[in-house]
Amino acid sequence: MNDFAGQVSKAHQNFSDRNPQSRAYFDDARTVLPGGHTRTVLSHPPFPLLFVGGEGATLTDADGHHYIDLLGDYTAGLLGHSERRVIDAVTTALGRNVSVGGIHPAEARLGHLMCERFGIERVRFTNSGTEANLMAITTAMQATQRSTIIAFLGGYHGGVLYFVSGPAASNAPYDFVVAPYNDLAGTTALIYQHATDLAAVIIEPMLGSGGCVPADPEFLQGVFAAARSVGAVCIADEVMTSRHGRKGLTALLGAQADITTYGKYIGGGFSFGAFGGTAALLDQFDTTPGTGREKIISHAGTFNNNIATMTAGTVVLGEVFTADVAEAHTSRGDEFRVQVADVLGRSALPVCISGYGSMMSLHASATQPANGTQASSRDHALQEMIYFGLLQRGVYTAFRGMMNIGLAHTDDQLSAALDALTETLHELAEN
Ligand SMILES: Cc1ncc(COP(=O)(O)O)c(C=O)c1O
Repeated sequence: MNDFAGQVSKAHQNFSDRNPQSRAYFDDARTVLPGGHTRTVLSHPPFPLLFVGGEGATLTDADGHHYIDLLGDYTAGLLGHSERRVIDAVTTALGRNVSVGGIHPAEARLGHLMCERFGIERVRFTNSGTEANLMAITTAMQATQRSTIIAFLGGYHGGVLYFVSGPAASNAPYDFVVAPYNDLAGTTALIYQHATDLAAVIIEPMLGSGGCVPADPEFLQGVFAAARSVGAVCIADEVMTSRHGRKGLTALLGAQADITTYGKYIGGGFSFGAFGGTAALLDQFDTTPGTGREKIISHAGTFNNNIATMTAGTVVLGEVFTADVAEAHTSRGDEFRVQVADVLGRSALPVCISGYGSMMSLHASATQPANGTQASSRDHALQEMIYFGLLQRGVYTAFRGMMNIGLAHTDDQLSAALDALTETLHELAEN
């Protein structure tokens, strides 16, 4: 019987010894930033690494270690660290104008690209995925004049829309009802129970933070059908998953939302969020004079149309990550996941992989999770030991096990990552 819990403190000590510059930075940063940084997801014991450089799919930390970046900034870093087309276009645009209290051409250009690509009629931009989801919920509440929102256990829609281990106390004060993911009967029962007050259902087609657990197609389709039957709005959170296939994961699972939210990679590394959908819903924001609209939803935001993000987005969707590239990238991710599963299958340890396309998660658990609760019931000590084992071998993943394949990864880097995983598991099984 392996005692992984007993090995964890030694792994922390080794990590501290190997990373004195990161440690020193962290100790200082903590004096002004609670926890040493401003992204809760980055926290892990004993302290997170301090990165000082990146090139392609490689990261360099302050102590001079190089890593294959298998995290890709939780999907925002799809392009890698040096996509020249985006950097050059943004540099040129910023040379003309950095910040303008007005309209500039890249905004509608990105709007057209998004509508064509994702099959939506209208879109609005925000600064983050969190904001996009808050606005999507607001849109649904205003359209229906109802207030109940169904979200899912294991779901994550932003810092104030957290359901990974149940609703967080710090969540935005909406009337949330939490439904069981991948449980159609349980969810439809709740939808019918709230038939007269349900404004929207908000769902990730694959739980991202909740452990890369894809929705069963019948579940997603069934939830949307039931929600529509009671007059509620269907919101698909594709902040992470719009990278899959030509139009995003919801379409691949045979469903269609009324409002979809976007974020992460579309901004090419700059702050980004967007919500889009039917004209009937989104035109509630239409301020054009003379439309005769009585009620208009206000959605201001100094940086909603900021030049860097809008410019980067046009290059990302228009040139770098076209629908053809997205389709091929999804297949490449599927192939890599099969190879990871093969490595895991050769280990005696209780480990498995879940995911879709280029997004996946390692679980220190013998069985593939079907929902967030199953994903979180893993051997936490083993999970940590895998993380530190990969780091020591030059592979950077999420502490929770998430791995994302990006456009910059070479085949050699992916096979080196598989070798690192094989060695890590072998060492852990031996101890
Ligand atoms: C599915 C999903 N929705 C929304 C968000 C929030 O996006 P942001 O961090 O840009 O606010 C995230 C972030 O991880 C996410 O994974």
